[in-house]
Amino acid sequence: MEFILDHYENPRHKHPIEDAEAMVEGGNPGCGDVMKVYLKIEGGRIVASFEGDGCTISQASASFLMDEINGKTLDEALAIDHAELMDGLGKEIVQQRTRCATLSLDTFRAAVRKREREQMIANS
Ligand code: FES
Repeated sequence: MEFILDHYENPRHKHPIEDAEAMVEGGNPGCGDVMKVYLKIEGGRIVASFEGDGCTISQASASFLMDEINGKTLDEALAIDHAELMDGLGKEIVQQRTRCATLSLDTFRAAVRKREREQMIANS
């Protein structure tokens, strides 16, 4: 639990990226919590950040995920699945709160898809 609280209280990569190649706003309809993920690729590596307002687990998950994916390639980051993210956060703590724990990953993946669409349009 301390690990989660530390990420919640001292979030990593929680800021906008002005020149992001994609920004996606995700949300959990069940509770109304929202999360934005900013994404760009520099030299083949991910630069990503988030902003959000929500429960401890969703915000801690976003901070943890950003730490994990920054500096990775898109392929490496897309290999992270819900189970791996939840293991990293501490499965016993987050398993009852799957939707909170995985909101960050789902929003990140949506940002990857949006970036792909926008790059396709820009290059056509
Ligand atoms: Fe809303 Fe957790 S209660 S994301």
